[in-house]
Amino acid sequence: MVVLVTGGAGYIGSHTVVELLNAGHEVLIVDDLSNAKAEVVDRIETITGKRPRFCQADCADKTAMEQIFAANQVDAVIHFAALKAVGESVKKPLSYYRNNLDSAMTMLEVMEEFGCKKFVFSSSATVYGPNNPYPYKEEMKAIESSSPYGWTKVMIERILTDYCTAHPDFCAILLRYFNPIGAHESGLLGDDPNGIPNNLMPYIGRVAAGKLEKLTIFGGDYDTPDGTCQRDYLHVVDLAVGHLKALEFAAGFTGVEAINLGTGSGISVLELVTAFEKANSMKLPYVIGPRRDGDLPAFWADASKAKELLGWEATHTVEDMCRSAWNFAKKSS
Ligand code: UD1
Repeated sequence: MVVLVTGGAGYIGSHTVVELLNAGHEVLIVDDLSNAKAEVVDRIETITGKRPRFCQADCADKTAMEQIFAANQVDAVIHFAALKAVGESVKKPLSYYRNNLDSAMTMLEVMEEFGCKKFVFSSSATVYGPNNPYPYKEEMKAIESSSPYGWTKVMIERILTDYCTAHPDFCAILLRYFNPIGAHESGLLGDDPNGIPNNLMPYIGRVAAGKLEKLTIFGGDYDTPDGTCQRDYLHVVDLAVGHLKALEFAAGFTGVEAINLGTGSGISVLELVTAFEKANSMKLPYVIGPRRDGDLPAFWADASKAKELLGWEATHTVEDMCRSAWNFAKKSS
């Protein structure tokens, strides 16, 4: 299959491209490199021995997308490209709505023009909003979020659902990710955000590398066993394999299907810090600080639908996640 991967030079995108190439698919990456580096394409080649086609373009640029589709027989699209910083989205809502909605809709328009009918969308557990009980199940009413970033995921899920109603021969798989962490075992691919990281694991990596002084744990007084927030952390390589399985499922499916990708259990921030220290034989300086606005105390996935429909289950342990994250962070520091 020829798979167009938007945002394929990014953190989750690049790991997914590796799995697609290893499974024998042809890959065409479209990435504007606004939050990724061109050398990722070389690194993917080093890992897989195959070079994906690469086009530096914004996928909201309809003319550029039409040229790409005219020059390539694209069988399916996996759409990662999006702005993704939760805090920044609160400050710049218009750029989040413009960018994320435009790029998804442009891809759909161009796919329609060229008769491409398989779409895998990078959604998020954030669509379950603050009011659903956990573990989150796909059939829960998922129409809320706590940030403009999250609302773009809710809205694109809605757009895809309506599109599938209007086009019964189209297939959209909405993959709702929990908290991806970890890195490729080669240490060549990982999560390396620009500036000071917002997310927990890249922040821990910078502290471990001595680039940041200490980790601040946001809140120690939640109603959880150790007072810190609980999340469903999953290894990014498991997540990447989930996309491959979703693509295989999509090949024989029409309609819209939301699927959680998580491990099915939660661990706390403190437990993750302790696991990181143990896995990498080091001490991590940290303090417990105030809560961060918008954080939920705890949530994790009901991961049974992914197992039933896709035959997918997370296989990596928390130790694997911590070891690979540090292996990447120390090489990139
Ligand atoms: C957020 C988004 C999610 C998005 C994900 C990855 C929400 C509700 N969640 O998840 O949609 O897909 O980011 O971009 O919008 N923490 C610290 N100290 C730090 C950083 C984080 O204690 O320096 C804690 C947080 O309070 C949280 C946990 O670590 O309990 C995980 O935080 P983070 O990695 O930012 O992910 P989420 O907020 O869960």
